[in-house]
Amino acid sequence: MKKDISRIRTNYQGELLDEKQVNPDPLEQFDTWLREAIDAELTEPTAMILATATASGIPSVRTVLLKSYDRKGFVFYTNYKSRKGTEIEENPHASVLFFWPQLQRQVRLSGILSKTDPADSERYFKERPVESRISAWVSSQSQPLDSKAELEENYRLFEEKYSSKEIPYPPFWGGYCLSPQAYEFWQGQPNRLHDRVEYQLDPESRIWQTVRLAP
Ligand SMILES: Cc1cc2nc3c(=O)[nH]c(=O)nc-3n(C[C@H](O)[C@H](O)[C@H](O)COP(=O)(O)O)c2cc1C
Repeated sequence: MKKDISRIRTNYQGELLDEKQVNPDPLEQFDTWLREAIDAELTEPTAMILATATASGIPSVRTVLLKSYDRKGFVFYTNYKSRKGTEIEENPHASVLFFWPQLQRQVRLSGILSKTDPADSERYFKERPVESRISAWVSSQSQPLDSKAELEENYRLFEEKYSSKEIPYPPFWGGYCLSPQAYEFWQGQPNRLHDRVEYQLDPESRIWQTVRLAP
């Protein structure tokens, strides 16, 4: 039955977010918000929507999991031959979005993606559960598949072949690191008068400047 989705409305009443009181370091501000999302026991608090685009600007989005973050950037892992991998190869500009609805918060980051050091990717690959390591090998991510049975059969054959051998690191799989040039923190407020604080990195001084944006 058709539902009238135009009437779905949420009234926001989050904590205040003030451009004069936020942490001057956006990485620390992010760290505080992610920790609060984890402490609130949200589902997949590290899930982020990643937007990439082809060289001619045709965009695509998908969810990936943030696996680490520090001064160098924000890291996720994937198949380098996937659609996103192909797009990043031709256009390294990207944006990611975290949405934590129970906290009435979203964070957007924009910047440049680069591959992580293969040694770091290999180290992380070896920490993954065996099932995830096998599926990285047997799934040609983003390519058409004739059937689910074909994928399951490839998984079974691989599992059998490596039952007593160490699974090697696949060279087509690894991390990307997003080095942010801008962050935006959004906190829901009553009457749609939401708080938005943007941080822009001054390219010369390398100091982050904050500004309040209209909701
Ligand atoms: C919650 C969630 C987490 C995901 N995490 C990852 C991830 O960390 N890496 C990844 O390659 N795909 C992940 N995926 C699958 C992607 O969203 C996507 O389907 C896949 O990477 C292929 O994307 P592409 O064809 O745009 O390259 C995740 C999906 C969901 C729903």
